[in-house]
Amino acid sequence: MRRASAATRASATARASAATGASAATRPSAATRASAATRASAATRRRAARAALVALALACVVAGLATSPTATAQQDGRALFASACSACHGEDARGVPGKGPSLIGAGAAAADFYLSTGRMPLSTPRTEPQRGPPDFTAAERAALVRYVASLGSGPDIPHPRPGNTQRGFAAFRDHCAGCHSITARGGVVPPGTAPALQQANATQIAEAVRVGPYLMPPFNERQISDAQLDDIVAYVLAQRHPDNRGGWGIGNIGPIPEGLVAWLLAGTALLLIARLLGERA
Ligand code: HEC
Ligand code: HEC
Repeated sequence: MRRASAATRASATARASAATGASAATRPSAATRASAATRASAATRRRAARAALVALALACVVAGLATSPTATAQQDGRALFASACSACHGEDARGVPGKGPSLIGAGAAAADFYLSTGRMPLSTPRTEPQRGPPDFTAAERAALVRYVASLGSGPDIPHPRPGNTQRGFAAFRDHCAGCHSITARGGVVPPGTAPALQQANATQIAEAVRVGPYLMPPFNERQISDAQLDDIVAYVLAQRHPDNRGGWGIGNIGPIPEGLVAWLLAGTALLLIARLLGERA
C-alpha cells in the first residue's frame, strides 16, 4: 500500500518537474495534475488508515469476546477461587488467621448467599460484609458455589415455598424482630448493624436464616422448621408492600432513602447559596 502511494508520489513529482521544463502555458495544468496526485495519495493514505482502524476495532471485539463472561464462566470455580478468594481464605480454603475463616463445610447456601448479595469478595478482612451488586456473573457464582460446596458437607441452597404471612409474623417477632425490627427495616446490633430486609429475595432470606451471616446467629431446623421458614419468608416479602411505612409521602420508600432525598435537597440548596455568594463577590 505504502509502496504504491510512494510510486504515485514519485510519478507526480516527475510529471511536475517535466512540467517545469514545459512552456509557461502548460505549467498551471501540470501543477493541477501534481496537486491532484497529492490528493490521490492522501486519499489512499486515508483509506489505509480507515482499514487499519476497522482492523483494530475487529481485534478489540475479538479480544472482548475472548474475555467476556461466557469465556470466564467456563473457567472452573477453583481457578476463580484462587484468584479472588484465596488471599483471605487460603489456597486450600482452610482459612488464613486474621483474614478469613475456613470454608470447609461452609456449604452451598453460605457461598450462594455471600456471593449473590455481593458480600464476598470482601475488600478488607475486618469490616462487616455489606450487601452490594455481585462481583461475578451468575455462571461464575455457580462455579464458585459448586467449588465451595465440594469442600465438605454444609447446608444446601434452600428453596422456600409460599408460606403464611400471619404465622410468619409471629415467628419473625420471636426470632428476628429483636435485631431487624418488626417491620424488617433494620436496626443496630453492636458492633454492627442488622440490615433492612427489603432487598433480599426469598432464597437469600432463607439462606441467611440457615447460614447466620456475620453477627446473625444461624437457625437450624429444630429452631425454625422448613415450614416456619416459608412463613417467615412470606412475612418478610410482605413487608415490602405495606399500606404505609410512615415518613413523607414520597412513595413510602422508607426512612433511609428519605434521608438520602433530604440530603439531596439540602445539597442543592447549599449549591444555590454558594452560587449566589459567588455572584456577589
Ligand atoms: C442477633 C441479631 C440478628 C437476629 C436475631 C437476626 N438477624 Fe438477620 N442479620 C443480622 C445481621 C447483623 C445481618 C448482617 C450480616 C452481614 O453483615 O453480613 C443480618 C442479615 C440478614 C439478612 C441479609 C439481608 C441482605 O440484604 O442481604 C437477612 C435476609 C436476614 N438477616 C434475615 C433474618 C431473619 C429472617 C431472622 C430471623 C429468623 C434474622 N435475620 C435474625 C442480625 C440478626
Ligand atoms: C479480604 C478478605 C476476603 C476475601 C478476598 C474473601 N473473603 Fe470470604 N470471608 C472473609 C471474612 C473475614 C469472612 C467472615 C465474615 C462473616 O462472618 O460474615 C468471610 C466469610 C465468607 C463465607 C461465609 C463462611 C461461613 O462459614 O459462613 C463464605 C462462603 C465466603 N467468605 C466466600 C468467599 C469467596 C467465594 C470469596 C472469593 C470470591 C471470598 N470469600 C473472598 C474474608 C474474605
